[in-house]
Amino acid sequence: MIETGNAAGLAYDRTETADSGPLLLLVHGFPLSRLMWRAQLQLPGVEVLAPDLRGFGDSAAWDSTEPLTMAGHADDLASLLDALNIAQPIWLAGLSMGGYVAWEFWRRHRSRVRGLALLDTKAAPDSDEAKAAREATAERVLADGVEVVAHAMMPKLLAPAHSGHDSVDSIADQLQAMMLGTAATTVAAALRGMACRRDAHDLLATIDVPTLVICGEEDVISTPAEMRSFAARIPNHRYVEIPGSGHMTPMEAPKAVNQALLEWLQTEPQS
Ligand code: MLT
Repeated sequence: MIETGNAAGLAYDRTETADSGPLLLLVHGFPLSRLMWRAQLQLPGVEVLAPDLRGFGDSAAWDSTEPLTMAGHADDLASLLDALNIAQPIWLAGLSMGGYVAWEFWRRHRSRVRGLALLDTKAAPDSDEAKAAREATAERVLADGVEVVAHAMMPKLLAPAHSGHDSVDSIADQLQAMMLGTAATTVAAALRGMACRRDAHDLLATIDVPTLVICGEEDVISTPAEMRSFAARIPNHRYVEIPGSGHMTPMEAPKAVNQALLEWLQTEPQS
């Protein structure tokens, strides 16, 4: 059963507690929402908590002109756990921007983390060119609407095999609905927040919990070469490449991703 709630300013879905089962906190990508984790809410024997980050989905709107920072999102997630009285260490998984948030959660709240999963994400910060492109996009979104971002991102999110609007509720339709449902102020603030995110390379050697790194073989945003290279610097990691999938592995390859997550969730702590 899935409970939908709101705490600490964040909307969330939470699956029924399995007795002493692991608690998995899922952090969505940009400019998406918790709806991208539909298939992961079905993980058997796992309590899943999937929030909408601040400004996204059904969470409180972001009307400020300040950036939505990765550190701010990480602190929001810690406040959500507090508000839900979750004191046990959690298994934390983030996709892309959700991965950037996961790095910051590790930096700021690592004692709360039992395991870390990085899906289709990067450890490197934006180059100067990427920062400038994000700012230009933020300005266009504020002037012309979120369609600007949806139009630019859609061709890059999915492997060709999954990119059609060929079935009712296709993955492409779901992604488009999430993107178009995000407020322009949130999209602009998130672009600016990602542009000023920190380099996560200094964290890699400090990660002493079981770590799963998942990458779609056809991901053109966070490529297998880039992900393999940062994964190699994490002491206790498993790297899983998903054949035939693009950037949105949890939606494009739910069975393979759920299998990898279940195996990771059974990993014993390191001695
Ligand atoms: C995402 O999927 O969250 C974005 O592609 C991340 C980014 O723009 O760096």
